[in-house]
Amino acid sequence: DQSRQIAETLTEFRLTTEQLLEVKKRMRIEIENGLSKSTHDCATVKMLPTFVQSTPDGTEHGDFLALDLGGTNFRVLLVKIRSGKRRTVEMHNKIYAIPLEVMQGTGEELFDHIVQCISDFLDYMGMKNTRLPLGFTFSFPCQQTSLDAGILLTWTKGFKATDCEGEDVVGLLREAIKRREEFDLDVVAVVNDTVGTMMTCAYEEPTCEIGLIAGTGSNACYMEEMRNIEMIEGDDGRMCVNMEWGAFGDNGCLDDIRTEYDRAVDDLSLNPGKQRYEKMCSGMYLGEIVRNILIDMTRRGFLFRGQISETLKTRGIFETKFLSQIESDRLALLQVRAILQHLGLDSTCDDSIIVKEVCGAVSHRAAQICGAGMAAVADKIRENRGLDHLNITVGVDGTLYKLHPHFSGVMHQTVKELAPKCNVNFLLSEDGSGKGAALITAVGCRLRQERN
Ligand code: BG6
Ligand code: GLC
Repeated sequence: DQSRQIAETLTEFRLTTEQLLEVKKRMRIEIENGLSKSTHDCATVKMLPTFVQSTPDGTEHGDFLALDLGGTNFRVLLVKIRSGKRRTVEMHNKIYAIPLEVMQGTGEELFDHIVQCISDFLDYMGMKNTRLPLGFTFSFPCQQTSLDAGILLTWTKGFKATDCEGEDVVGLLREAIKRREEFDLDVVAVVNDTVGTMMTCAYEEPTCEIGLIAGTGSNACYMEEMRNIEMIEGDDGRMCVNMEWGAFGDNGCLDDIRTEYDRAVDDLSLNPGKQRYEKMCSGMYLGEIVRNILIDMTRRGFLFRGQISETLKTRGIFETKFLSQIESDRLALLQVRAILQHLGLDSTCDDSIIVKEVCGAVSHRAAQICGAGMAAVADKIRENRGLDHLNITVGVDGTLYKLHPHFSGVMHQTVKELAPKCNVNFLLSEDGSGKGAALITAVGCRLRQERN
């Protein structure tokens, strides 16, 4: 009877093909809402123009600095791109920590910290006196009016620094550089991580016209026809659109598949009611869904001898890397117990079986709904081009995609099933979005020279 009740709790996470097709259909509706002028303002999936109008063509060259803020790691990079017969990209980078109190302190503190890290990096590279062009990968929703201006619409994931929302983040960065009075930089582009990832992959593989992040957060971008982006003048060619699909469902359109555990995770988050789709399918939240289910099952007496430990009450204990380990097929149950022990959870053998099942149900649903979103994007591109069949590559990055033993496979399979007229290839981004930001910066520099 207990196992029946456990199974019942988890069936809610098993979505049928019909339900997934429905998710795909709704994503398509939200895409159209974000693109059209009449509905854009109240659209949840914002479909933000990026002012990136082509993928790399191999002529990009020069030395660039890049910042990569918003994923697990904050990185500062030096990227040297050489064009010609033997194209090469040489990269140097350093990872810096962003302490929680800086992520959630004042905007000035956050940007001063960023500039402090750049300063350290320039010292390390011995480059304080060169005024390099910089590409800023900033992985949050920004309303762009040009390549080098982006107003932060709202923080997402774990960030909540004050006085940044509604501000141009390039301006905030430039001001912080000025405050320091130590070096000068030429900020040329602000880039979403999905866009940087797409560009990185497109440099090697020209059919790459979609970018996907399945990491701390979840989001995608793709090359949309200019004529369909009603918020932007002009009808010719294409522009990359940062979908900000994490906000899918914020108007309630996914409520029928959200569970009480999804609602609990949302309620306890930094941004209740927002990023509902992201909260069902990205690394920052999957562990929290698991934890909420485990608490409920413990309360009902199915787990941990009915004892809700302090650990289990602690937010954020199940990081992506632990979920990935727990679900690894090579791991014996004894090892699952060791991981739980390491997290401070005393488990029996039966407990560990249940925990593994819970993790599996949650990550499987995540991969499926992510795949449903991707299927909507692929079919949209196919229809844009009036094709019966589309071949396309998705550039992808993120710890959930890279570390989890099943996420990528289930996601690929779902896309195949839900978008049978598309052949979607996934290409893992090799060096994160720093290279992509540098490529975009290179194009930005060239366009600026042409204008002058
Ligand atoms: C990195 C990219 O590799 O992946 C970042 O360089 C991106 O730009 C990140 O934000 C996403 O993954 P995660 O899991 O670190 O959020
Ligand atoms: C969040 C951000 C988005 C980013 C994604 C992946 O959804 O809002 O801009 O691309 O996380 O990092």
